[in-house]
Amino acid sequence: MAEKKFVVTPWEVTGEVDYDRLIRDFGTQPISATLAKRLEGIMGDSAYLVKRGIFFSHRDLNMVLDDHEKGKGFFLYTGRGPSGPMHIGHILPFYFTKQLQDKLHVNVYIQITDDEKFLEEKRNLSYEDTQKWAVENILEIAAVGLDPEKTFILQDTEFVGHAYPLILKIARKINYSTAKSVFGFTGETNVGFSFYPSIQILPSLLEKKRCLIPSAIDQDPYWRIQRDIAESLGFHKAAAIHSKFIPPLTGMADKMSSSRPETAIYLTDDDKTVKNKIYKHAFSGGQSSIEEHRKLGGNPDVDVPFQWLYMFFEPDDQKIEEIRTEYKKGQLLTGQLKDILVEKVTRFLHDHRERREKARDRVHLYKKDGALAREMWKHDFSKS
Ligand code: TRP
Repeated sequence: MAEKKFVVTPWEVTGEVDYDRLIRDFGTQPISATLAKRLEGIMGDSAYLVKRGIFFSHRDLNMVLDDHEKGKGFFLYTGRGPSGPMHIGHILPFYFTKQLQDKLHVNVYIQITDDEKFLEEKRNLSYEDTQKWAVENILEIAAVGLDPEKTFILQDTEFVGHAYPLILKIARKINYSTAKSVFGFTGETNVGFSFYPSIQILPSLLEKKRCLIPSAIDQDPYWRIQRDIAESLGFHKAAAIHSKFIPPLTGMADKMSSSRPETAIYLTDDDKTVKNKIYKHAFSGGQSSIEEHRKLGGNPDVDVPFQWLYMFFEPDDQKIEEIRTEYKKGQLLTGQLKDILVEKVTRFLHDHRERREKARDRVHLYKKDGALAREMWKHDFSKS
């Protein structure tokens, strides 16, 4: 059987991703119906991202839930590489993380990898660029509204010096051939990258409890290495819950790309831009004329406006299934489906922006002055 070509690495996602094959290739577990139900029992309605398979794969999620139920607790870790403005796909794991924190009151660590984005030469970012994007991205993340006393945003170029003793212990456990085979380093890769995995692993070892990492599946290679070394350092293997990529507006293949603005909706896009992008560029599974559409109906599986509603913007199960049925039957037209999405996205962005303005005064709590941030800056990492 001919397998379709696609690539998923921490630095590149191209082609139409076959998620079942990724589970096999990466050696992760699909989220079973039983496990999804268990999470639903804990998260309530906010589990829709799991129920609908946006978060579709995991490592040791059941053990995290066991620890939670036994009162041992756990913590969450996620991150962002500040390489440019954030779009809808970038912010989704943060909203999911917030829903988990709201329900379970756990600590959250958010790593801002300005170092990683500087090292990625292909991106051509100056050091100043990475600092500027770090500031802007942190504000978007602050807008999500995580608990400032239980959330620590660590920006690598500021924090890794403080945590260096623990980073060294991590680095000494990872040999070059492992890193090379996991990440595909070549003779041309700069040496910063050889060391960088130790830095992305650090936040998973900030507590002696189990760590659950919500992230897109492309970050899993780091967690594979983490799981090989964590126990020998006296910590738990990281657990992970992996999401799919929200498809670009322009069609189901590849992922949203900052270099092609029409493929994505940015958190900073104004109402007019949102409308324009969706009406002009969103790939439709509808028919070419209204008559045809009424007769044959649309195909929600390839229709990006439908997929965006399903994957994020319409949490109400009954509503989304109504939309699916009406669209398939041709009762709902492409333009009307796009109207629904425009309305949802516009409202989401309005709310997000309002929260962003209020968040400005909270950033220092996440980075320095909140209870968890203070604890981390005080911690003596030579004793980790
Ligand atoms: N490497 C990620 C990126 O390029 C950033 C990141 C660091 C991250 N730690 C993480 C993402 C943990 C998810 C979970 O965006």
